[in-house]
Amino acid sequence: MNKAKRMDSLASGVFNEMEEKKQRVEARGVKVIDLGVGSPDLPPAPHIIEALRRSANNPSHYRYTLVGVRRLYEALTGWYKNRFNVDLDPDNEVLLLMGSQDGLAHLAMAYVDPGDIALVPDPGYPIYSFSIQMAQGEIFPLPLLAENRFLPDFSLIPPDIAAKAKLMWLNYPNNPVAVSADREFFERAVEFARKYDILICHDVAYAELAYDGFKPMSFLEVPGAKDVGIEFYSLSKTYNMAGCRIGFALGNREVLSNLALIKSNIDYGVFHPVQEAGIAALTGPQECVTINAQTYQRRRDVLVDGLAELGWKMPKPNASMFIWAPLPPGYTSSTLFVSELLEKAGIIVIPGVAFGNRGEGYVRIALVRDEGILTEVVKRVRQSFSFNA
Ligand SMILES: Cc1ncc(COP(=O)(O)O)c(C=O)c1O
Repeated sequence: MNKAKRMDSLASGVFNEMEEKKQRVEARGVKVIDLGVGSPDLPPAPHIIEALRRSANNPSHYRYTLVGVRRLYEALTGWYKNRFNVDLDPDNEVLLLMGSQDGLAHLAMAYVDPGDIALVPDPGYPIYSFSIQMAQGEIFPLPLLAENRFLPDFSLIPPDIAAKAKLMWLNYPNNPVAVSADREFFERAVEFARKYDILICHDVAYAELAYDGFKPMSFLEVPGAKDVGIEFYSLSKTYNMAGCRIGFALGNREVLSNLALIKSNIDYGVFHPVQEAGIAALTGPQECVTINAQTYQRRRDVLVDGLAELGWKMPKPNASMFIWAPLPPGYTSSTLFVSELLEKAGIIVIPGVAFGNRGEGYVRIALVRDEGILTEVVKRVRQSFSFNA
């Protein structure tokens, strides 16, 4: 059986490769600490689990859901109004997704024809480029570089490329580079998209994992954003519901209706109890969100301060659940360093190059273990490496 040609351009998932290596190291009796995948280790708040449980006990909640519960759309638009002061029409400007990944993966099917250009951050969360490859589009990378505060420089995109581009992915707070964008940047993005008739797809999955009092913004806060784009929001990280699949696309109604059309041919909606859990999350007490962010902030401090004392310095992010760490002194290959870290210290992080060529020179560390384990990480690094030498 010959597989499809598009499969040739797909790299095997870095997470699978790391899992294989992990198993080899664990077979030697080492208890590996996995800071690779960004899957929250904390549970949702009890009222969210309770809403899920109650709904699961209702025998009528096992049918196809197709369009979704109206109360959920209202809960989300109410939440967006409270949090970002963004007005959204629950009937036309919100689309329910089986996790934001569902929308991120399928959107290009509606907007990218074979050979069309898409502007994709490099490094970037892998689905942005994968979705374009699946639609047989062409990727024009937008380098995210430290000297530009990891924001794409629109002035460096050649006008003929911009004129041909159909779609641009943006993501702030960003995975993997763990920086946020300001209003001025989003205003420039909207202006650029308007000039060249480009659809902006902004992914705001990490809006609520922010530290030191910082509040990330929604791209939809910028006047005119809805004319040129949509935003993806997820409950996975805000409420620790990653396996309880629920996310949303919001904004431009025409784009949403096209994405809805694609999805109506693929899936039959989000499980009703998961929607009830979403309503409970969005309309219930929000202290759990604050407590969650404070927990990640303490983890960030334990790790970044601890590693800095060993001579491995990295910036403290103001949002996201990741550290984007330049390689320690003496290292140039992220893949080699990551292998050494696993072999010598039993710690898994992701090589920056797994997120794109411009990710070389960095590793991504996910803050998905408690402070005690992160203290152990620092201890193991101290025992296994000597960066100042
Ligand atoms: C930037 C970003 N967007 C989207 C997702 C996927 O979120 P969801 O669970 O809503 O599919 C992730 C998951 O890690 C992510 O890092």
